[in-house]
Amino acid sequence: DWTPGSIIDDQVARIRAQVGGARVICGLSGGVDSSVAAALVHRAIGDQLTCIFVDHGLLRAGEREQVERDYAQSMGIRVVTVDESERFLDALAGVTDPEAKRKIIGREFIRSFEAAQRALVAEAGEQGAEIRFLVQGTLYPDVVESGGGDGAANIKSHHNVGGLPEDLDFTLIEPLRTLFKDEVRAIGLELGVPEHIVWRQPFPGPGLGIRVIGEVTRERLDVLRAADAIAREELTAAGLDREIWQCPVVLLADVHSVGVQGDGRSYGSPVVLRPVTSEDAMTADWSRVPFDVLARISTRITNSVPEVTRVVLDVTSKPPATIEWE
Ligand code: XMP
Repeated sequence: DWTPGSIIDDQVARIRAQVGGARVICGLSGGVDSSVAAALVHRAIGDQLTCIFVDHGLLRAGEREQVERDYAQSMGIRVVTVDESERFLDALAGVTDPEAKRKIIGREFIRSFEAAQRALVAEAGEQGAEIRFLVQGTLYPDVVESGGGDGAANIKSHHNVGGLPEDLDFTLIEPLRTLFKDEVRAIGLELGVPEHIVWRQPFPGPGLGIRVIGEVTRERLDVLRAADAIAREELTAAGLDREIWQCPVVLLADVHSVGVQGDGRSYGSPVVLRPVTSEDAMTADWSRVPFDVLARISTRITNSVPEVTRVVLDVTSKPPATIEWE
């Protein structure tokens, strides 16, 4: 019989046998899968593991600090954070097509990760040659979707951020390859991964880059980040985090909507709240968030984010609409 404890013991033994004394790196996204994979490998080989966290500038408020607290402080994992926001914003300048944004973000992510990994190897000096292994949080459904086969390293292109190219000179460690999400959560809890990570709502790899509709700029990201933080705070305070699958907050940056401020007209952009319920993200329904919670979110956003003149609610199911707007 498989229990979380027996799966952990089994994987720890396998990882130790596979890795020996070599060093291992892991890209962290802050999501459940990469976190549990990292925690499992850390249980097996401790400080032989170094995690790399790429800050692409498309994160939500406080996420980078949270990752550093969770991994370094709570779990004792060695994390190297690289701030690459400039690189991503430069590459995204002038781009409005959603798929083009995804491709650019995916490409820059790989470049950033490779640069960080080269820096680690250089820093390790003679021992650098020993960094031969890369951890990936691939789950069983990812393996099936990407066509099965052993060594299928790539997540479907839709979810490509964090999916690394096959020509990287690494051997993959994928300790979650035979598992489903609920098993991964159980193992994470058993390993002491903080609950807010284990139960974290999905967040797309391209981050806020696909939630600013139109060109992505630093200013627009700041506006969206502020609105998103308020929506998240209120939904959490209302106890809705488990009920809601996720709630994208979307900035319609190129729409100018009239508002009143003092005795003058002002123009700002609307933000859309997209709270959904879902089992697996393949289908979804809009979530019936209580009106008073919506009212608090709307009032707080329009009071404290002057660039936003209107808050609107998306009441479309999937299908026909997708969860994200881009
Ligand atoms: P859609 O918008 O297709 O989203 O209904 C389904 C789920 O996938 C997430 N999503 C992404 N995740 N990279 C990701 O890592 C992406 O490009 C991407 N696009 C959508 C979305 O947040 C939802 O959970």
